Amino acid sequence: MSDSRSGVAVVGSANLDLVVEVSRPPRIGETLLGRAGGRFPGGKGLNQAVAAARTGAPSRFVGVVGEDEAADLLERTLAEAGVVAVLRRSAVAPTGVAHVLALEGGDNSIVVAAGANGELSVQDAVDGVADVAVVLAQLEVPRASVAAALRAARADGAVTVLNAAPAHAAAIGMLDVVDVLVVNETECAELGGMARLQAAGARAVVLTRGAAGVDLHRSGRPVHRVEAFPIDPVDTTGAGDAFCGALAAALAQGVPLEEALVRACAAGAIVAQHRGATTPALSPASIAELLATR
Ligand code: RIB
Repeated sequence: MSDSRSGVAVVGSANLDLVVEVSRPPRIGETLLGRAGGRFPGGKGLNQAVAAARTGAPSRFVGVVGEDEAADLLERTLAEAGVVAVLRRSAVAPTGVAHVLALEGGDNSIVVAAGANGELSVQDAVDGVADVAVVLAQLEVPRASVAAALRAARADGAVTVLNAAPAHAAAIGMLDVVDVLVVNETECAELGGMARLQAAGARAVVLTRGAAGVDLHRSGRPVHRVEAFPIDPVDTTGAGDAFCGALAAALAQGVPLEEALVRACAAGAIVAQHRGATTPALSPASIAELLATR
């Protein structure tokens, strides 16, 4: 890695999150009245880039949005968080929209209409990842573009992190260019389980288990466990993204993986205690405060 390389580039989605708070998901054919709702910035990519910036790393976001008002909101969010936005505006597709049901107890269900996210090209992705220390991607944008970005970044000497969300078998084919794979238990199962991931060549797999904490799996080494911070969640939307963004930021700052995972858990816990997928409450200071409680 050259000395001039620094910070995090996130390749991924940017969505307008339309959130409704409900006690339970609606049944087929049912209209359910929610308690409250709102429009929030979202998208796994945008959330992760914002978290990386808010936890102290220079952060770049590479994505595609529409030529609409939602894109203006997302652009403002990135600017306010100090993220360098490499945003292409599509003339043919609207900004992605996520319909988020925020359920009691902090859980959620999300449906995404990809819109302009689906237009992120191989060229957009590869051009966007030059000269950074860490490249972070998810699977809400075209998978060929994600694969190309990770391949180019790794060839260039960057550390690569893939959050395989939503899960797709294509992630298996990317493992040779992924340094750290982040999956939750559902995604891990959808990809065939930990044994399959390791047999397929995964170098390091971070398995996030919500309140049960995080397990780091590396072939031939004992599982390393990081306990979760005990919290009362308000809205877990974006908590996993905060985890990934903070993890990438810490790795870009040269923090060893085991310690980076502790910071990442703290970031996820902070975001889960606020409404929406991003929050200005996430900062190096709020992470340090939570770490001090250990
Ligand atoms: O991970 C949470 C995010 O998933 C939401 O912000 C939504 O936009 C979807 O991308």
